[in-house]
Amino acid sequence: MATEIINVTILGAGLMGTGIAQVVAVGGYMVSVYDIAEIILEKSKSTIEKQLNKEVAKSRMTEDNTKNTIERILFTMDLKTAVGNADYIIEAVPENLDLKKKVFSEVDKLAKKNAIFASNTSELSIALLAEATNRKDLVIGTHWFYPPHIMKLIEVVVTPLTSDDTLKTTLSFCKKIGKETVVCKDVPGFITSRAISALITECMRLYDEGVASFEDIDKAMRLGFNHPIGPFQLTDMSGVDVVFHSIESLGKTYGNERFKPSDKMVELIKAGNLGQKTGKGFYDYKKEK
Ligand SMILES: NC(=O)c1ccc[n+]([C@@H]2O[C@H](COP(=O)([O-])OP(=O)(O)OC[C@H]3O[C@@H](n4cnc5c(N)ncnc54)[C@H](O)[C@@H]3O)[C@@H](O)[C@H]2O)c1
Repeated sequence: MATEIINVTILGAGLMGTGIAQVVAVGGYMVSVYDIAEIILEKSKSTIEKQLNKEVAKSRMTEDNTKNTIERILFTMDLKTAVGNADYIIEAVPENLDLKKKVFSEVDKLAKKNAIFASNTSELSIALLAEATNRKDLVIGTHWFYPPHIMKLIEVVVTPLTSDDTLKTTLSFCKKIGKETVVCKDVPGFITSRAISALITECMRLYDEGVASFEDIDKAMRLGFNHPIGPFQLTDMSGVDVVFHSIESLGKTYGNERFKPSDKMVELIKAGNLGQKTGKGFYDYKKEK
């Protein structure tokens, strides 16, 4: 039987944490959002308000509904307040194993003994994160996709020590907030990061070899396979540096023959052209305006 969840905490109010908080609050849960700076929490709150107002404009939510949803979210810099009452805690801090372990270890001391810890890591080992706690059976991966309020999937990652109850509770929670799930073993890159990194690596190889322009490779993936965006557009959207580190890290596990960041990515990073967030990556977004 799944454990009942009432209070959900999100650790890290960045791009993903903010979107996850919105989806969970819209799903009817009480939500606490924790981050390390007031300005980040303020930005997170205003992003959620803007997104929900768009839903009202499209008649997908009422104003009352929006108001109640926002009132269900507490934004705080006090970790004890954030996690003390939580039944389900979702970590969305930067993709750094040591940082995530430190956060899990601290929260382990403050949270209820039966609270479930979920990590939104894209590829790091859930088992290593669980080792930082005294609740290895209650630790699981829930890998969301950007933007969380649009993307249907949550990839659920289980370690050999994740309990059946933790998995059942997680699957039922994901369903209640309107998401589809896939369940995957705890291997580096899971299903999705491993598969998309293979596609990106091969497409970048095609480009490095001068076989085609990156625009045409993107077009081939969009129109030939119905991908909503091409791999170069996706890299720009996620951040050239983020994709570089992800492919490099998978290369360490599975070998450079399979996963090797392209030379062009190295050049872009050196020039500070990290994709949409800096206005230029493979594509030039300043030109488009
Ligand atoms: N960006 C994506 O498309 C995407 C998609 C799926 C998964 N992820 C994963 O989600 C996680 C977060 O990514 P993001 O893109 O939201 O990053 P982000 O940099 O936008 O947000 C991270 C937030 O964590 C906060 N933070 C840093 N140290 C903290 C601490 N000790 N306690 C609490 N908060 C802390 C930062 O202030 C920041 O607001 C990463 O593990 C990433 O791999 C990202």
